[in-house]
Amino acid sequence: MSKRCLKREGGSNLRKQLIHKGSWANADVFLCSQGQNQWVEKGFAEKKLLVRWTIGIILTQRELFIAARLKDLAGIPQGYARKSLCTLTYNYMDGKVLGSRELDHAVSVDYFTACEKLLHAIHGKGVVHLDLRRGSNWIIQPDGSPGIIDFQSSLLVNLLPGLLKNFLFSIDYSGLYKMWSRKCVEGLDQDRKKIFHRINRLRRLWIFSFTQI
Ligand SMILES: Nc1ncnc2c1ncn2[C@@H]1O[C@H](COP(=O)(O)OP(=O)(O)O)[C@@H](O)[C@H]1O
Ligand SMILES: [Mg+2]
Repeated sequence: MSKRCLKREGGSNLRKQLIHKGSWANADVFLCSQGQNQWVEKGFAEKKLLVRWTIGIILTQRELFIAARLKDLAGIPQGYARKSLCTLTYNYMDGKVLGSRELDHAVSVDYFTACEKLLHAIHGKGVVHLDLRRGSNWIIQPDGSPGIIDFQSSLLVNLLPGLLKNFLFSIDYSGLYKMWSRKCVEGLDQDRKKIFHRINRLRRLWIFSFTQI
């Protein structure tokens, strides 16, 4: 167990609250707190043995590996540590989840332009997220800046051919633009709307060609 975990779980006044119950093959997410410290614990500890020792280990190690690539990038949870082979802990990111209904057409355009920069920085480190069409993976931090969480489906793309890499990057942008059109006060501007539609056409073609194999 890492030093960080020992520090996090050393005392007696530890509180652990379930914030998201994963299905049989998805991680459970807990919010833990102890004194002033708050952190997230995400893992497969309560899943069946076979799930823990297969998907559990693979997805957990992948998220840890990706998090190491994104270390020190503002807008990404920091302090990743391994609690066990199939459980991670990392810092809780304060704020609101963008997916919340009350935020429909209520978020400033500045948030989304900052999201675009953050996504560009993530891609610059050779990482694609691939699960950004869900509002639950975007955070609006208390100072209005963006946060991106949940790197369990992410991939490292450094070694992929340029065309495929750009296609995967565009999948992330389509997630952002989907949120932008639903949540931004001003909606999505014309230029980005064109890009969004183009990516969606490509996505459909891609899904279609896979279903035909
Ligand atoms: N670091 C974090 N900071 C704040 N909230 C988080 C954090 N990690 C997870 N959450 C909350 O838990 C929910 C589920 O976590 P997530 O990592 O997205 O798991 P899943 O793989 O089940 O989607 C998120 O939508 C968010 O509300
Ligand atoms: Mg998620």
